[in-house]
Amino acid sequence: MKLNDEKSHIFEAELGPDSQLQHFFKDNIVVIRTGFFRNRSLFRDLLTSVLPSITGSKSFRSPLQIWSAGCSDGREPYSIAMASADFLKKKRPGVKLSVLGSDINEQQIQIAKKGEYSIITAEQAALEPYAHHYHIKDNKLQMGRAMLQTVSFKHENIIEARKAIPFHILFLSNVLLYYEKEYRKNIVSRLANLILPGGCFYLESVGGRFMRSLGFERMNTESHFYIKI
Ligand SMILES: C[S@@+](CC[C@H](N)C(=O)[O-])C[C@H]1O[C@@H](n2cnc3c(N)ncnc32)[C@H](O)[C@@H]1O
Repeated sequence: MKLNDEKSHIFEAELGPDSQLQHFFKDNIVVIRTGFFRNRSLFRDLLTSVLPSITGSKSFRSPLQIWSAGCSDGREPYSIAMASADFLKKKRPGVKLSVLGSDINEQQIQIAKKGEYSIITAEQAALEPYAHHYHIKDNKLQMGRAMLQTVSFKHENIIEARKAIPFHILFLSNVLLYYEKEYRKNIVSRLANLILPGGCFYLESVGGRFMRSLGFERMNTESHFYIKI
């Protein structure tokens, strides 16, 4: 592992099953940084393009399967689940939703399973439209029962991930920037096989040309969503 000189919060790591990463991610506050509805364009594209396209396709079969890999304390998969649940209720009633969150950091997964969070002022406005999915008690946000049932969590290293079922949408957001280019490509190639045709991969830090070689097209020039052709 070595620190990148220009951006001291970014490092390059050799990823192996017995690497020091488990300890590093447990202890390093910067690399686990996350938030509710953290990335506006992600949610805009999800609601306006990705969900309508996937669930509107003839080959689509319920349930809608979503995976947030490298989900930190769960705020990302809960945000995705709240937004998707409301979309489905309004536009595709009858379609069921299943969201998986996974992370190499066991502590973060334990927080995620509880679904209880300190309220951060900067997140409040984005959370407000989804207040029917959580309650506030003693200044803490607690995800409601339906969300706790919709989102499941797993302690897992993405490089070792095995999945029994393929996914419609896979999020790998703010995870790959910590890895060397060749490892990024390795991880992305393996995960690409776990996405259904017509499904989407959300990721940064690998180029469009590489994604095309795996059979994905960028949704549009601004977007980090890639569609599996
Ligand atoms: C900066 S956080 C991003 C969290 C969330 N995806 C977001 O964008 O808000 C990166 C997360 O990726 C996790 N991570 C890094 N490498 C991983 C790996 N090989 N397997 C599983 N999780 C990993 C870290 O533990 C951390 O929680």
